[in-house]
Amino acid sequence: MPSTTKTWPAFVASLACVFALASCKSQPAEEKAAPPAEPVAQKIAVPPAPGKFPELKIPADNPQTPEKIALGQQLFFDARLSVDGSRSCYSCHQNEHGNGGETPTAIGALDKPLTRHSPVIWNTAYFEAFYWDGRADSLEAQAKGAWGGGNMGVGADNLAKKAAEIGKIKGYKKQFKKVFPEEGATPDTIAKAISAYERTLICDDTAYDRYAGGDETALTDEQKAGWTVFMGKGQCAVCHAPPLFSSAMGVPGGLYYNVGIGTAGKPEAEVDVGRAKVSGNEADWAAFKIPSLRNVAKSAPYFHDGSVATLSEAVKIMATGGIDNKNKTALLADRGLREEELASLVAFLGALDCGGKLEQPDLPK
Ligand code: HEC
Ligand code: HEC
Repeated sequence: MPSTTKTWPAFVASLACVFALASCKSQPAEEKAAPPAEPVAQKIAVPPAPGKFPELKIPADNPQTPEKIALGQQLFFDARLSVDGSRSCYSCHQNEHGNGGETPTAIGALDKPLTRHSPVIWNTAYFEAFYWDGRADSLEAQAKGAWGGGNMGVGADNLAKKAAEIGKIKGYKKQFKKVFPEEGATPDTIAKAISAYERTLICDDTAYDRYAGGDETALTDEQKAGWTVFMGKGQCAVCHAPPLFSSAMGVPGGLYYNVGIGTAGKPEAEVDVGRAKVSGNEADWAAFKIPSLRNVAKSAPYFHDGSVATLSEAVKIMATGGIDNKNKTALLADRGLREEELASLVAFLGALDCGGKLEQPDLPK
């Protein structure tokens, strides 16, 4: 069974929630106003904006503590974790690039070219499957994957040795003793600490959030127009449901669609098959996880292969039905948007800029 079908009930439930909100919250306060002067049909109401995030799930075996989060933050920024001392986690998830990657596809330790673009990591803790293809089922597993794999180049078999080296650094030794008194520094405890830090990277302070909270002035008129297109004619919310702007967040196993990125201009055998490699299912061929659009304006280039340089180009591709190929999802079609509607969508996405920054801590000696 394709993973998209398996999670369909959850997906429909999340959509129903969006549209229910849209219908039940419409036009408060003014119920008894006089009939409008102009015909109603000419007015498209700005849809109400849901603001409340679901509760963040914290794994029972990795509770958040301030000491653990502080330790994880140091490890996230520490290039000594990589095989050659060249890469920290932060190297590929920097503030300057919206906490996604700078280059179209990432370049790992030992300058190894990788095949995918570094995604934005704000609110990543709301996912229940990680990477563009969802191959890791927890942040902890993802951290070990990045550390042992090409990103940091340590090798899965060498993690224990590297963890022991880290554990010998005086400033770390003390902290591991306090945070993980029984285990000390191991691949598991390092992954746990990093994940605890990542669970604090919550972006809920955008202009959109202020608008959702009732501040009408938080969005410009063009952004309000863009929000209306996003929810209506553009049908973006089907996959990028507010307030998280990825319908895959909170869905066990994630949600993956083929929108055609990376399928054009190359032999089929060279296409990154994405989710299909994980699920073994042909229906997932070249399907990728729906990314959140929070911080998207700051995180060029776009898509799993970083193949699109600008946000307006990325929006245009999505609004005109993606890129045709043998497996493109039927949920994406040309929405016939005018130039100013496309421009308003781009303006609206600018209202999803996150206020926060990842803070570089002092590293232990
Ligand atoms: C060399 C660049 C590089 C380094 C170093 C790196 N990452 Fe990444 N990160 C990536 C790329 C590329 C992906 C997507 C890979 C894929 O989907 O196959 C990714 C994906 C992720 C994701 C998944 C986000 C999602 O939406 O599913 C998280 C979380 C993450 N990285 C955190 C980390 C952590 C923690 C570290 C350090 C242990 C780290 N990264 C080190 C490039 C990097
Ligand atoms: C059928 C589900 C679906 C719909 C509908 C949809 N998207 Fe997407 N969107 C995706 C997926 C999946 C990706 C990632 C594709 C990839 O990288 O291969 C994506 C990626 C994006 C990106 C790039 C984000 C990044 O970080 O690289 C932008 C921007 C975007 N979509 C905007 C929109 C807009 C605007 C609309 C409405 C016009 C829209 N999307 C409609 C599924 C969808």
